[in-house]
Amino acid sequence: MLVHRKLLTLWLLLLLHVSGSAARFNLFGHKKNPVPQEGDVRLFGGGVADGRVEIYHEGQWGTVCDDDWDLAEAQVVCRQLRFPGAHSVVIGKDYSKAPGPIWLDDLKCQGTENYLSTCTFKSWGTSDCSHKEDVGVICETSGSNVTGRDSSYSLDHSISLSDERGQIFDSGSGCDFSITVMSATGNTEEDGTPEMAGSTVCAHKAILSQFPLFNASEGISGITVDIGQACQQNFSSFIRYIYTRKVEVTFSSVQCLHWLASKFGVKQLMEDTGRLFSQILPEDATFHTQVSLYEYAAETGDLVLQENCIQYLAWNYQNLTSSPAWTQLSVELLGALLLRSDLVVPDEYFLLWNVESWIREKGDSISSETQVDLLKRIRFPMIPAEALNDLESNSSLYATHEAMYRENLLKALQFNVLLFGNLVSNPKFDKDSDDYRPRIYTAEPWSTAMNRTQNRQMHYNQYNQYNQYYQYYPSSRVINTPVHNSLIFKNNKIQWEANVFNNQQECSNRGVRCESFPSARLAPQNSLSEWRHILFRNRLLLMCQGTYIFQVQDFKNHMAVNGSLAPAYPCPDDQYTYQFVVRPEYV
Ligand SMILES: *[C@@H]1O[C@H](CO)[C@@H](O)[C@H](O)[C@H]1NC(C)=O
Ligand SMILES: *[C@@H]1O[C@H](CO)[C@@H](O)[C@H](O)[C@H]1NC(C)=O
Ligand SMILES: *[C@@H]1O[C@H](CO)[C@@H](O)[C@H](O)[C@H]1NC(C)=O
Ligand SMILES: *[C@@H]1O[C@H](CO)[C@@H](O)[C@H](O)[C@H]1NC(C)=O
Ligand SMILES: *[C@@H]1O[C@H](CO)[C@@H](O)[C@H](O)[C@H]1NC(C)=O
Ligand SMILES: *[C@@H]1O[C@H](CO)[C@@H](O)[C@H](O)[C@H]1NC(C)=O
Ligand SMILES: *[C@@H]1O[C@H](CO)[C@@H](O)[C@H](O)[C@H]1NC(C)=O
Repeated sequence: MLVHRKLLTLWLLLLLHVSGSAARFNLFGHKKNPVPQEGDVRLFGGGVADGRVEIYHEGQWGTVCDDDWDLAEAQVVCRQLRFPGAHSVVIGKDYSKAPGPIWLDDLKCQGTENYLSTCTFKSWGTSDCSHKEDVGVICETSGSNVTGRDSSYSLDHSISLSDERGQIFDSGSGCDFSITVMSATGNTEEDGTPEMAGSTVCAHKAILSQFPLFNASEGISGITVDIGQACQQNFSSFIRYIYTRKVEVTFSSVQCLHWLASKFGVKQLMEDTGRLFSQILPEDATFHTQVSLYEYAAETGDLVLQENCIQYLAWNYQNLTSSPAWTQLSVELLGALLLRSDLVVPDEYFLLWNVESWIREKGDSISSETQVDLLKRIRFPMIPAEALNDLESNSSLYATHEAMYRENLLKALQFNVLLFGNLVSNPKFDKDSDDYRPRIYTAEPWSTAMNRTQNRQMHYNQYNQYNQYYQYYPSSRVINTPVHNSLIFKNNKIQWEANVFNNQQECSNRGVRCESFPSARLAPQNSLSEWRHILFRNRLLLMCQGTYIFQVQDFKNHMAVNGSLAPAYPCPDDQYTYQFVVRPEYV
């Protein structure tokens, strides 16, 4: 018997040694072959559907040079990966260092090939490129059912033997460590203490001992853990993951699995479920999930998740204000949102009006100091001058907090009537205060929106048949904004041209260099040299299917760049609306 135990333990340790590395993060549930085959392609270093193109040859992953790349080549890559098609080609993006060779160069595809390796190219490994020219693609994901409340995501970090290890857990044979999970049922015992209910799973120390927080060491035969009732049902899936490195994550279990992973220090699962959070954020139009995840992140001290949730809420603030979750928002969360410059709102007056109505709704449950504290986070100097005039009569809380309003109105009026030089010479003017910085204002005259225009084209091909394809046309808009939002600049206008380019040709026509497609540009048509103390921190908002903002980009040399460090939220297709926002600021 003893010998049997020892053998089993040894065998388990061997399995542990074999697996462990080689992470596979498969959001769409495509069954992927764990052993790559000659000619396989993958996307590395981006999101699910984008990244550096890599191809497997002679047992090694290598990259592809960007010479001559266009959508035809990208189509082949995306279809080989079973995406419905290609969205765009990414040139010149730094996807972290590629360790392998550059396998392909001067690639020419018709666009109809099933495998990238069947397109024509020089020969394997022959190229005059450096890794700086590694090409990337973004595939289209429409058609993959990524949205919808019951979507399920597979996390799979296994390389092999995973199924056998699952059987070991399921059978419980030879298990030597019991884990009892208890949670309050919500009822009370006769003696007044909360009634607890629990269940026990039996596991193997040899497996659990990789994670010290289980205390699965010599001389300890089991632990008891107190978890929330909602998590009870997912506990056994969590322990099974420790064996198999695989788990199906659903909307209902993701928060629980994340909590268990962080409680027991299972880092990989924690990171992956953390990443899933940003995938599911746009799925809930009631905003309850986003708000509850924020609160959860705040409780557990997960700063990345917290930022991820609040950024989504800031970008989609307007929808939040009309959602069922709005009136249940905590003071802390509303307060945190009001500190942000990336809050997307029509204008600052909307925000004031909105915060006032939130406070009124809450009534006396919010102390007077807290009310003032929230209202002070409104950037009064940014309120349009016309609205400042009506403020005393239109504000519902003016009479209650008159001193605060008066002080801030005065500040706002000074900002609007004094020249910058006079403002800075005033000792009370704090140039670095956020009160003088715009948020992202989408109302006129600061913003314009456009869609990529798409038309169906007919094309007569070499076999005398018509092919249908879609062609994008360049879109452009002209907007006029004042030089600055202070009233004294009311009559100094700047004309801006906003473009969305779909290919190199359109960029060249405009004399612009584009790095990926589509590319957006927002350029002044007048010289700005006269306005040296004004800096434009313009932004591009990318809205998905007309319903949520999934990305906000900065401009560099008038071209939109993805400057966000936080992960972007997914958009299942490329029906973006592009909203350009002009944001002048004194410097
Ligand atoms: C997506 O889901 C819908 C409804 O559940 C289904 O009709 C459709 O076939 C699915 N699409 C794909 C590509 O799986
Ligand atoms: C593990 O042991 C430590 C120290 O004895 C204890 O504080 C901790 O609660 C134990 N963990 C579990 C999950 O029982
Ligand atoms: C987690 O628990 C929920 C019920 O609370 C259940 O629907 C879901 O299938 C469970 N998921 C996993 C991965 O155990
Ligand atoms: C946001 O609001 C718009 C307009 O009311 C609505 O069409 C859209 O579906 C909302 N988006 C979300 C994610 O709730
Ligand atoms: C203030 O209220 C008046 C009357 O209700 C309204 O006409 C006016 O537009 C309001 N001002 C602003 C800036 O909303
Ligand atoms: C862009 O398309 C969306 C969805 O089709 C539509 O709701 C919106 O009005 C369009 N916006 C512009 C600026 O054309
Ligand atoms: C923008 O950059 C972030 C961080 O580098 C990345 O996670 C995200 O996928 C990028 N988005 C796009 C559309 O490239």
